[in-house]
Amino acid sequence: MTDYELMEAAKKASENSYSPYSHFRVGAALLCDDGEVITGCNVENASYGAACCAERTAVFTAAAKGRRKFSKIAVAGTSDGTFSAITQPCGICRQVLSEFCGGDFEVILSDLDGLHKYKLSELLPLPFDKTSM
Ligand code: THU
Repeated sequence: MTDYELMEAAKKASENSYSPYSHFRVGAALLCDDGEVITGCNVENASYGAACCAERTAVFTAAAKGRRKFSKIAVAGTSDGTFSAITQPCGICRQVLSEFCGGDFEVILSDLDGLHKYKLSELLPLPFDKTSM
């Protein structure tokens, strides 16, 4: 599974986005340590705060399938079908990723220039974790 293929899986997952309020379709593709890819999309709600981002949908789906170890995630969002700008994970999704993934976990984003890769430690430098309480 190349990073490019993982990004294509994220874009494909965005086709299932339920986003009648924002009209912003997001897909995420999470690569498990055994090579399986688990995808998610954003699922919105008339009570706006009840929405779930694509990244969390993917992580929670994977967790519900018993998965705990992940190596990377690709995320893609679009309001017009072009995926022309990067869609970076929100703060809550960064925190959720940090529950299962170390600082070296890769977050792959995309714009018209191509793929952009970040380590989770760059996106969330000081995560709150089980050693924090
Ligand atoms: N959204 C995601 O699914 N992932 C992100 O990384 C950023 C935002 C969703 C939440 C909401 O459904 C829509 O995009 C607009 O914020």
